[in-house]
Amino acid sequence: MRFMRVLAVSLFAVVGLPSFGQGTVATVPPMGWNSWNHFAGHVTDADVRSAADSLVSTGMRDAGYIYVNVDDTWEGKRDAQGVLHTNEKFPNMKALGDYIHSKGLKFGIYSSPGAKTCAGFEGSLGHEVQDAKLYAEWGVDYLKYDLCSFQDNMHQVEKEHPNDPNAAKNLMIAAYKKMGDALKATGRPIVYSLCQYGVDQPWKWGPGVGANMWRTTDDIDDTYGRMIAIGFNQAGLSKYAGPGHWNDPDMLEIGNGKMTEDEYKTHMSLWVLLAAPLLAGNDLTKMSPADKGILMNKEAIAIDQDSLGRQGDRLYEGGDLDVWTKPLSGGRVAVGLFNRSWSVRDVSVDLGEIGFKAGADVRDVWNARDLGRQTGVFTSRIPKHGVTLLVVGK
Ligand code: GAL
Repeated sequence: MRFMRVLAVSLFAVVGLPSFGQGTVATVPPMGWNSWNHFAGHVTDADVRSAADSLVSTGMRDAGYIYVNVDDTWEGKRDAQGVLHTNEKFPNMKALGDYIHSKGLKFGIYSSPGAKTCAGFEGSLGHEVQDAKLYAEWGVDYLKYDLCSFQDNMHQVEKEHPNDPNAAKNLMIAAYKKMGDALKATGRPIVYSLCQYGVDQPWKWGPGVGANMWRTTDDIDDTYGRMIAIGFNQAGLSKYAGPGHWNDPDMLEIGNGKMTEDEYKTHMSLWVLLAAPLLAGNDLTKMSPADKGILMNKEAIAIDQDSLGRQGDRLYEGGDLDVWTKPLSGGRVAVGLFNRSWSVRDVSVDLGEIGFKAGADVRDVWNARDLGRQTGVFTSRIPKHGVTLLVVGK
């Protein structure tokens, strides 16, 4: 038995730890910007370049936001050889990738396993290997692969195999694996991001198709109701996340203007506790100081990116109050005390219950304040739709 353990340890030392997804990418949740939440179908090459410029000038790149991801509507038509071309909004993808890389950033792109993307542009069905090679030639570092019209193929196979309850699911998994394998075969490390809205529990089969992250939900929008419906629904998924493979509750809406500052702090707090990929989705050329303060809060980002790589989960919920914890390196714990109600409320956590029976040093992240040594029940008075985000340590 002891021998077996020694053998196992030395084998890992030789071949390295088992890796998930595309090699060594996404060892921490990917951070960057994506065009969809703000620009949607209007995004152009110029918008993406100016987003890249802004990531540098605002300090976001240095805070960790390095992926610049072009979402749907860049695609043109295929030529006689099947090679996909861009449309007139994106005159030269290789040049765009070079520009992004020249800024010390990474380049992301979008496609679908279906014949058409969600916005009705050309998808990758039947051209997976060819498209993966093209992405690698363009210098792509990240692919979001969105189910979209592949749902038609799934309905079709369901009709053809009415007695097989897994026919559609298996077809979908095979389609995601096809692109995962094609990306791997390029030899270029490319983050592989699945977007199929969380149906059929992608956290269970995502790692097997080479995914580094998978959406756990349908689309977010810039409303408090939708954001918390997604965020607080992530309870129970923490065990499926870890270095190289993350749950993705969708991109950030911070800075898009329809939530209050407290609501955006709730958004950021929940996402960092969830070890979620942090993809800003706002117009980076027009950020208020408050938006910058939330998106670039170093202590909040450090919770998300913590080297332990553990996703947080719900500790308890009562009415409109919710308490979440995330284990951090060094025996510390991040705690989110949330008030979803329409009035000021006290929200508490028992420090003994989260591993600090003898008391703990408590740090208030959003107020950047050390609250000193605390024991027993810690209570915070929280405004409506607000949060207190803590880092607790011995
Ligand atoms: C949706 C996806 C969005 C965005 C959009 C583009 O299916 O969830 O994040 O990518 O398609 O058409």
